[in-house]
Amino acid sequence: MTPLYRQLAEHYLGAIRAGTLRSGDRLPSVRRLMNDHGVSLATALQACRHLEDQGWLEARPRSGYYVRTARRGRLPPAQEPAELRPDPAAYVGIHERISSILERGQRAAVQVNLSLAVGAPALYPTTALQRSMQGHLRRTPAVLTTMARRHGHPALRQALARHALARGMQVAPEELVVTHGCVEAVNLALRAVTRPGDTVAIESPTFYGVLQVLESLGLRALEMPTSPATGLSLEALEFVLREGAPGGQRLAAVVVMPTLHNPLGCTMPDAHKQRLAALCSEHDVALVEDDIYGEMGDADSPIRPVKAFDRSGHVIHCGSLNKVLAPGLRLGWMAPGRWQARVEMLKYAQSRYVEELPQLVAADFLAGSGWPRHLRRLRAALQRQRHQMAEAVAAHFPAGTRCNLPDGGLLLWVQLPGGLSSERLFDAALAEGIKLAPGTMFSNSDRFGDGLRLCCGQVHGAPVEAALRRVGQLARELLGA
Ligand SMILES: Cc1ncc(COP(=O)(O)O)c(C=O)c1O
Repeated sequence: MTPLYRQLAEHYLGAIRAGTLRSGDRLPSVRRLMNDHGVSLATALQACRHLEDQGWLEARPRSGYYVRTARRGRLPPAQEPAELRPDPAAYVGIHERISSILERGQRAAVQVNLSLAVGAPALYPTTALQRSMQGHLRRTPAVLTTMARRHGHPALRQALARHALARGMQVAPEELVVTHGCVEAVNLALRAVTRPGDTVAIESPTFYGVLQVLESLGLRALEMPTSPATGLSLEALEFVLREGAPGGQRLAAVVVMPTLHNPLGCTMPDAHKQRLAALCSEHDVALVEDDIYGEMGDADSPIRPVKAFDRSGHVIHCGSLNKVLAPGLRLGWMAPGRWQARVEMLKYAQSRYVEELPQLVAADFLAGSGWPRHLRRLRAALQRQRHQMAEAVAAHFPAGTRCNLPDGGLLLWVQLPGGLSSERLFDAALAEGIKLAPGTMFSNSDRFGDGLRLCCGQVHGAPVEAALRRVGQLARELLGA
């Protein structure tokens, strides 16, 4: 249940976002909030303080709460794809490009890293996890010397199945397989439903890890037009499912990130998710859903995954605790639907079962009251940092820059003006100790050379602000040159 003060805060945040309340407007007085909404003084005050903490309101002495005037503006979102037809399917040859970018980043003396899609360690409940791990080791040291159970520890599968329920998914604990992160889940899913040479539809741009998996499995990628606002184009997908990919191949699978997409940050509307599940079922094609950011939306109300609309078992849902709870535990999971037996066999053949100690720690945390508290804190911090970062981009980057500001997660997707090469900007920034993720990492094509992914996982303090100011200057210099 969302606490009352948060419901009230969300109500007024909606009004600020919609422009009903503008910069400099006064929020109704605390007494008025109490009367209008039938809440206590404490609840009304807590709602105002929450919005103040988030940077949306400022308190003026003896006057009340006002919508902050200091916000530095918003940029227009990234452009919609020019073409609604997919590229011809192609074998992915991205490995060298990605490895070269990662290697250049590794060689540099990085001071401000804006490239990793992960939160700073301070955002995660280290002490609680540490205590839990120590407790398990003290009580059951045999966990170190006993073989792990098949397909995951029952306590973790139980906790994951319960949380899935809240997001509209009906999966029994035995229908889940615990994995080494989401990337293993996506690997297993694709191995279960494809053979080398098959064609797989993916979003364009997409998380570079998906491109690496396709390349390693010898699969052809069919890059589909993807809207920075609503995700994968269903018209384009429907056409390909009906007519075949350009060149005539039938699709073996579709890989999507329908919630808080990496790198675009967009979330598919529920109606699209429902249609996507129905299309894959109708055409008997596997849908691999990468839902790694599914719990990281700003609002308290759960975001439904495509799996919630799956009636035929065609959706292989892949999740992870690496972004939302503990990047160091490397725990992921999947609900393989109709491919469960094959996924279980492949998991066993590939890497056996996942270590139990991290699973016990995660299960403890997910089942306790610390989880909703942690989620609220994490979401609030990311929302604040994301907005601060978007404002800094608006203030410092050259005119014509566009920026997608998602309703959750860790990422901002920036489109540089004048066709500026983000890889040149990456090299120039890296020489000054600032690491970015250039758009060329996210596609097998050259279409996103002007894209840039930024991560807002760390506190937006002076070093991050200065780094973005400098990147903006470098972009201007490169444009001038
Ligand atoms: C969309 C997406 N999928 C999968 C992964 C990898 O997940 P994990 O670290 O859980 O293996 C990432 C990591 O950045 C990601 O952004």
